[in-house]
Amino acid sequence: MQPGGPPLKLGSVLSLPVAESSTRVRVARLGDLRALAEIRRLSWWDAYRGLVPEAALRRMDDARMVRRMAHALAQRWHVILMVEDEHERPLGYAWIGPHRERVGDHRGEVFELYLHPRAQGRGAGKQLLVTAIWSLVEQGLHPVIVWVLAANPACRFYEACGGVRVAEGPVDVGGRVLTRVAYGWSDAFPLPLS
Ligand SMILES: CC(C)(COP(=O)(O)OP(=O)(O)OC[C@H]1O[C@@H](n2cnc3c(N)ncnc32)[C@H](O)[C@@H]1OP(=O)(O)O)[C@@H](O)C(=O)NCCC(=O)NCCS
Repeated sequence: MQPGGPPLKLGSVLSLPVAESSTRVRVARLGDLRALAEIRRLSWWDAYRGLVPEAALRRMDDARMVRRMAHALAQRWHVILMVEDEHERPLGYAWIGPHRERVGDHRGEVFELYLHPRAQGRGAGKQLLVTAIWSLVEQGLHPVIVWVLAANPACRFYEACGGVRVAEGPVDVGGRVLTRVAYGWSDAFPLPLS
């Protein structure tokens, strides 16, 4: 489903009053993708080792990921938001766009949300998620949904950020069938950080 209206363009949403922190969220550009692909690989190894087949982790290829992300950025409805520290070092990213599968009336999706392992647990994930959700809301792409492996501790993160479990089902990850769950934000959007 492609929504109507103008393509995803982010402006005012990025000036939301986010936390009094030294991190900031901005739209990623092509030149950022190599660093984001590396963060994705490190985050996968850290979060998914023992959960998904190791072969799937070993097959990860930064160059291939950069091509996928670059292709997505060329799509008018896809945006990659990134969070960086006070020295403009990338800490993580959220890849957002129109919901891919029909689950209820959800229209927007956070496809990926990954922080560098050393950047986790300090509020940057929430800052990124809140900005991602509000970006989608601003474009009329809501309610918003995110899929996560049921065994991933990140489920607690989505719950802490106001997500409500709306669906569950099997997913094949590298040849192993795992359970995934979907969290949705409908009328209970997380508030901007203050
Ligand atoms: C999941 C992830 C994005 C969360 O980002 P983060 O920066 O570590 O989380 P934050 O510090 O912003 O935490 C925000 C809230 O979630 C809670 N939370 C985060 N991780 C949690 C966990 N594993 N268990 C319980 N609560 C958790 C925090 O306590 C905090 O609660 P509060 O707002 O009430 O204080 C990050 O940890 C990550 O990249 N994990 C590995 C990759 C991954 O699993 N990504 C999701 C794939 S769908």
